[in-house]
Amino acid sequence: MKNFLHVGCGPQYKDSLKGFKDWQEIRFDIDPKVKPDILGSLTDMSAVEDKSVEALYSSHNIEHLYPHEVPKAIAEFYRVLKDDGFVVIVCPDLQSVAKEIVNGKLIEALYESPMGPISALDILYGHVGSIRGGNTYMAHKSGFTFPVLSGLFREAGFGITFGAAIPSEYSIWMICSKNERTQQELNLLASEFLP
Ligand SMILES: C[S@@+](CC[C@H](N)C(=O)[O-])C[C@H]1O[C@@H](n2cnc3c(N)ncnc32)[C@H](O)[C@@H]1O
Repeated sequence: MKNFLHVGCGPQYKDSLKGFKDWQEIRFDIDPKVKPDILGSLTDMSAVEDKSVEALYSSHNIEHLYPHEVPKAIAEFYRVLKDDGFVVIVCPDLQSVAKEIVNGKLIEALYESPMGPISALDILYGHVGSIRGGNTYMAHKSGFTFPVLSGLFREAGFGITFGAAIPSEYSIWMICSKNERTQQELNLLASEFLP
């Protein structure tokens, strides 16, 4: 069975993710309250061996790092992946959030989430309700556009990055493959793991 590292998993398990149902999941988070298999930070994943996972899934956690820490985390992703491994990453898209702010919507709900209404302020700085409740791991310290995020993965040595910003979700979705892949292989990955 193929394995994947589910980083910054929060309370999520593989059942709620697209494409990973038949994979062995290793959950990784900095917060012991979410009961990860491995407790640690994205910037130091030394508990995970080099080239030991076939894929890595990162949903809404890279923005919790300071900008100078982001390349460290991406280098850790690269290190733990097998040579034919890939990352599926999703994070806030600052470009689509900025458009809402320019139109005067900062604290109004943009959409409903399981945690309640989400505003541009939540997307920019982290979920205000969670941080008010004392969970400062939820604070956002950096932000991305698709070209910037893609550039960071290319600089870290990933051979291919593809995906897009999805403005209706205020999110960027991207797959980053360590190795070059044929167009057919990329289409298959996209259909399996992207929304
Ligand atoms: C917004 S939640 C996302 C949870 C889940 N992945 C999802 O998409 O619903 C962010 C998660 O990242 C974790 N996190 C924050 N900083 C982290 C770090 N430096 N290393 C590992 N996990 C971190 C938090 O503890 C939290 O579980």
